[in-house]
Amino acid sequence: ETVAWDPEDAEKSGYDHYMLKEIHEQPKALRQCLRGRIDDLDGAVDLEDLADLDHEGPVQFVACGTSYHAALFGAERLREAGVRAQAFLASEYASDRVPIDDETLVVGVTQSGETADTLRALREAARAGATTLAVTNTVASSAARECDHALYIRAGPEIGVAATKTFASQQLALALLAFTLGDGPTREELEALRDIPGQVRTVLETTDARAIAEEYADADAYFFIGRGYHYSVALEGALKMKEITYRHAEGFAAGELKHGPLALVTENTPVFAVVTGDDETARKTIGNVKEVEARDAPVVAITDGESDVGRYADHVLEIPAVGDFGSSVLANVQLQLVAYWVANLLGRSIDKPRNLAKSVTVE
Ligand code: G6P
Repeated sequence: ETVAWDPEDAEKSGYDHYMLKEIHEQPKALRQCLRGRIDDLDGAVDLEDLADLDHEGPVQFVACGTSYHAALFGAERLREAGVRAQAFLASEYASDRVPIDDETLVVGVTQSGETADTLRALREAARAGATTLAVTNTVASSAARECDHALYIRAGPEIGVAATKTFASQQLALALLAFTLGDGPTREELEALRDIPGQVRTVLETTDARAIAEEYADADAYFFIGRGYHYSVALEGALKMKEITYRHAEGFAAGELKHGPLALVTENTPVFAVVTGDDETARKTIGNVKEVEARDAPVVAITDGESDVGRYADHVLEIPAVGDFGSSVLANVQLQLVAYWVANLLGRSIDKPRNLAKSVTVE
């Protein structure tokens, strides 16, 4: 399906960089992703793209880079919806090393639809008998053409090499996919889905990311921690930071800090902790925040204010309280902006970072 994006969407329209423009286009991109896909009458998610996909078996995601982080998020979402799901790096995926048969759905998450590693994994899966699905931004891309099914994320053109709005749209599209393949949404979940674009706008209007970037532009390294859905955001926050600032950045599952990474933490390595809600997951990550504080590392909490993590953090980047997976979308926007402003202060080539390409067509 095609979507109404003007040619001027592909120009910078007043922003210094495509990346910043694309970060600000996220509310629109997410609205486009949802458009016509929620059936108000029967309160269901209705993906016309997948009308003839009738799948009950396990799901394997294959993807690279930022899309792999979306795949991790998607696998988590599917598991929560009761579907067996796993995410693989496409370059590490080998169909003869994983259980795969004609009951398996292999989902390639690829913005461009042209990434060589992802195409190879999808082709191999198809040969092994799996049904294949491309989750892509690019109509008629190789992935869309070759797979049995295609789900379009409808983010519009993305020029910046660092993926931003396409990541948010992948997160949302995969949340929709989970509601289709697994348990359908409750009324509250439908409301929450519909609220996400507006809440991203709120984040963009209220963010303190630039001040945080100014505070920590000279750091030795940047660490990102999260659990559950926020683990994928921690990895993505770090990837964005290294791609455009050329600084050392790493994302960790919060629980893994004590198994090694804690040795890297100093007063000059800010730790960005994504903590939302006030449940067991939040409490555990707050425990990790305390460990980091005790070693004098500055902590920036990305939080909806539901827990008391702010008491242990040096700074707080606030997001609206949405609960659940939606908060991962919002938290990631704050981290995109921190990376953008650090890179901006350092005078980096933000839209075309050294050594990187928008899409990589070699294995
Ligand atoms: C390149 C880009 C990344 C992207 C990755 C996968 O490395 O620089 O931003 O995440 O490819 O791209 P895809 O088009 O498959 O999502």
